[in-house]
Amino acid sequence: EDIGVVAVGFSGGQGKAGVDAGPSALIESGLLSQIQNELNYKLHGDDKVNAYNDLVPKQDPPYRNMKNPGTVSAVTQRLSEQVYSHAKEGRMVLTLGGDHSIAIGTIAGTAKAIRERLGRETAVIWVDAHADINTPETSDSGNIHGMPVAFATGLAKEEKPEYFGWLKPENMLNVNKLVYIGLRDVDAGEKKLLRENGIKAFSMFDIDRYGIGRVVEMALAHIGNDTPIHLSFDVDALDPMWAPSTGTPVRGGLTLREGDFICESVHLTGNLVAVDLVEVNPSLAVDREAEAETIRAGCSLVRCALGESLL
Ligand code: ARG
Ligand code: MN
Ligand code: MN
Ligand code: MN
Repeated sequence: EDIGVVAVGFSGGQGKAGVDAGPSALIESGLLSQIQNELNYKLHGDDKVNAYNDLVPKQDPPYRNMKNPGTVSAVTQRLSEQVYSHAKEGRMVLTLGGDHSIAIGTIAGTAKAIRERLGRETAVIWVDAHADINTPETSDSGNIHGMPVAFATGLAKEEKPEYFGWLKPENMLNVNKLVYIGLRDVDAGEKKLLRENGIKAFSMFDIDRYGIGRVVEMALAHIGNDTPIHLSFDVDALDPMWAPSTGTPVRGGLTLREGDFICESVHLTGNLVAVDLVEVNPSLAVDREAEAETIRAGCSLVRCALGESLL
């Protein structure tokens, strides 16, 4: 099977340095060679990490409360083209982040390619401690990594092309095709948006109540069989025990096994078209062990999504 890999060394969607080194850490630990040699995928693209320095504007003042709006917009626009060019060839696309703002670009790219190639809408399974659905106006932090779902679904709108106005209807995600797993730190304004738009979300409470098996079953039932799936996995969905090295850790999360199970289940549908693995920040670890543990977890999630542990 063919897979396009895009490594996105980008941290502008939030304020902590180091998440731009996530992709190189994952790659140096052997992820791509495992995908190639053990999982037998044919890799397209290269293992060079995109820094997108050429896209960073000289000045990038806040706009509508967003931090680095011009930079994030330009980088995600370029990324959307990279993802699109793989997906339109019928390749699965693996994007290694970087902070979660990059999902504005990855979803825009897959949504457009799948519409053109299959005449279908893409579903997104968003695995995260956070809903990342703040609009610029509901966000307290101004960090765009807390807003990607709002832009991807059109709940946040902006005309100016230099501030995400480049997003067109063909890039958009239908809120009915979105489902969350793992939520446990959702802002008040985000809860209102989830409620008002009838967005399906499985929190950690639901996982405790039903177990991960039934939650994944219900999540897949919601988006429907035979729907192309984009899996956007924020490593902070995992409990900090498994993934301590991330910018916004929240206790009480998924075990590594539950995370792997989600990825395996999505692989088993046969409908997976794209995977994002984001928010691995090697420099936030308290020691080398915590850093290695987080990278190891990230690699495991990706390998499971690509079919590793299934017999
Ligand atoms: N809700 C908070 C915010 O909007 C935290 C978002 C964390 N997002 C993430 N991708 N880790 O700033
Ligand atoms: Mn998160
Ligand atoms: Mn996130
Ligand atoms: Mn398979």
